[in-house]
Amino acid sequence: MSDISVNYMGLKLRSPIIAASSGLTAQLNRVAEFDKAGVGAIVVKSLFEEQIVNEAQFLNDQSHDYPESADYLHHYLRQNSIDRYLKLVSDVKETVSVPVIASINCYSGGEWTSFAKKIESAGADGLELNIYSLPLDIYKSSTDIERGYLDVVEQVSKQIKIPVAVKIASTFTNLPGFVNGLKAHGAKGVVMFNRFYSPDIDIKRVRVFPADAFSSPEESLRELRWMGIVSALVPGIDLSASTGVHNGTIALKQILAGASTVQMCTALYKKGATAISQSIADINLFMDTQGFKSVADFQGKLNYANIENPGKFERVQFMKTFGNVK
Ligand SMILES: Cc1cc2nc3c(=O)[nH]c(=O)nc-3n(C[C@H](O)[C@H](O)[C@H](O)COP(=O)(O)O)c2cc1C
Repeated sequence: MSDISVNYMGLKLRSPIIAASSGLTAQLNRVAEFDKAGVGAIVVKSLFEEQIVNEAQFLNDQSHDYPESADYLHHYLRQNSIDRYLKLVSDVKETVSVPVIASINCYSGGEWTSFAKKIESAGADGLELNIYSLPLDIYKSSTDIERGYLDVVEQVSKQIKIPVAVKIASTFTNLPGFVNGLKAHGAKGVVMFNRFYSPDIDIKRVRVFPADAFSSPEESLRELRWMGIVSALVPGIDLSASTGVHNGTIALKQILAGASTVQMCTALYKKGATAISQSIADINLFMDTQGFKSVADFQGKLNYANIENPGKFERVQFMKTFGNVK
C-alpha cells in the first residue's frame, strides 16, 4: 500500500482529498462519512461576512426609531451568528479525526477580521478565506481591488497562528503575480478556483434564472493550466485544486500539475462519500502501477518547470494545425 499522505500548509493530511466547503460540511453525519471514507481534511461551510452585515443592516432599517435597541440587536445577532459558527467548527472538530479548516467568505477587511482569532480558539486547524466581490465600479482599478484582498490576508494572518489559505477566482490579469502577493502577505495555501453562482437566461420565458450549482468534470481543465504554471513560478505556497474534481483521475492530473491537495464538492453531492474512497483507490492503483512510493514522488512532475516543452502550458490560441479540430 503506497503512502498517500500529503503536507498542506504545514498540516499533515492522510490523503490529498479534501471535502470542500459546502452545505454538506455543516452536517455532522456527512463529515463523519467523509472521515470514514479517508478524507484528508474538512473545510467547514463558510461563515459569510455578507450575512452578518445584512442581518445588522436589516435591523438598522427596521428599528431606526429606536437606535439603542437596534444597537443591542445588531450586537446580539452578530454575536449569535458567530457563536453558531464557532459551535459548528468545534462540533465538526469533535466528530472527525482529520484536520478541520474553517472558512470565512468575505469581501473586505475591518472589524470582522477579529473573528479569525475566535475561530482559532474554537479548535480549527486552518482557516480558508474565500475573498471576492464582483467588481461593478468602472472607475476602480484592479490594483486597488487586489490591494484590498492582500490587506485582508495580511490582517488575518497576523492575528492567528493557524495557517491561512485563500480561495480565489480564476480571473486575475496576472494570476501567478497575485498568488505571489498572497504568499508575501501571509497566505500558506491558495485554493484554485472558487466556482461562483452564475446567472443563465431562459429564452422561452425570457427571464434570468440561476444556472446549475454543480460543476462538470471538464471545468477542471481551467485550473490544470494554472496549477502547472503557478506551482512552477511561485514555489513555497501550497495549492489546492477546486472545481471539477469529480474522480481520482482528475485528482491525479491536478497533483501531477503541482497541487498538494484537491477539493471535492459536486462529487460529494452526487456520489456521497464513495467519491472519496473511490478516488483514494484510484490514487493507490496509479502509484502502485507507476512505482511511486509517496505523493511527493509525482507532485508537480508535469508542471511548467518540469516538462520538456513548457510551451504546452503557454499555448492559449487555437492555430490551424493545432489539436484535432480541422
Ligand atoms: C451547494 C454549494 C454550497 C457551497 N458553499 C460554499 C461555501 O459556503 N463556501 C465556499 O467557500 N464555497 C462554497 N461552495 C463552493 C465549493 O466549495 C466549490 O469550490 C465549488 O463547488 C467547485 O467545486 P466542485 O466542482 O467540486 O463543485 C459551495 C458549492 C455548492 C455547490
